[in-house]
Amino acid sequence: MPDQYAVIGNPVAHSQSPLIHAEFARQTGQDLVYGRLLAPRDAFAATANAFRAGGGRGLNVTLPFKGEAFRYAAFLSERASAAQAVNTLKFERGVIFGDNTDGVGLVGDLTRNLAFAVNGQRVLLLGAGGAARGVVGPLLEQQPAQFVLANRTLDKAQHLALSFGGALEAGTYAALAGRQFDLVINATSASLAGELPPLPPGVFARGALAYDMMYGKGETPFLAFARGAGAALLADGLGMLVEQAAESFLVWRGVRPDSASVLQQLRQTRDA
Ligand code: ATR
Repeated sequence: MPDQYAVIGNPVAHSQSPLIHAEFARQTGQDLVYGRLLAPRDAFAATANAFRAGGGRGLNVTLPFKGEAFRYAAFLSERASAAQAVNTLKFERGVIFGDNTDGVGLVGDLTRNLAFAVNGQRVLLLGAGGAARGVVGPLLEQQPAQFVLANRTLDKAQHLALSFGGALEAGTYAALAGRQFDLVINATSASLAGELPPLPPGVFARGALAYDMMYGKGETPFLAFARGAGAALLADGLGMLVEQAAESFLVWRGVRPDSASVLQQLRQTRDA
């Protein structure tokens, strides 16, 4: 029987991860199956336990369970500890290992697929939940000139900044008035509800890249807003999705698939 993997979330029906991992498996000749696992909101651990008991080898974790997966894992990678969130679980010899590949996935998409060097740039990250937390460490490693975190609830932004030793500046959306950034990343869940963080339109510097960690068929509300506000480059989270998947695949299988060709295929199918 092939090794079993899945993406666990709620909702999970929209996830592209099964397609991506099937393609990675084909590419690298790995014998595995990858499905979708819908967990009730109050039953993440029970659902993951049942999958594991059935021989499951690993899970990707998506909304809203990345914090729970962090607590569920017995051992954590350094990047998962820093993120306090887990998007990759590996089950091996009775041990639950938690990792977080979101941040490297985002940085990989920015630097390789979009040819955008974060180093020395002014970076604005929107949101202070699990999605934002997961990408702070790898973004900091790129040594941006400025790194500002904005959130509706100021407390949460301050708490997150503090847990990274104050290496980034925390504030509200209102405090962004009059400031400009070269890279603005939306890590809020606002797009899921068709909403928009209350961002002053002047935040996009000349040539700025607006990046929405969400992806979907059409343009997200954030990217539509960014286009209107003069952002020069727009990117949704499809590239990050493929890059974090490739990194998870590496964690599980020890081989790194060719992510760029899979991203190209997904874009073609979506835009067809
Ligand atoms: P995730 O794991 O996706 O980050 P989360 O932990 O629930 O999910 O965090 C959601 C983030 O999106 C939070 O930063 C939230 O802001 P608050 O902390 O102020 O709640 C943000 N968010 C959600 N809807 C939003 C909206 N309409 N406008 C602005 N921020 C929003």
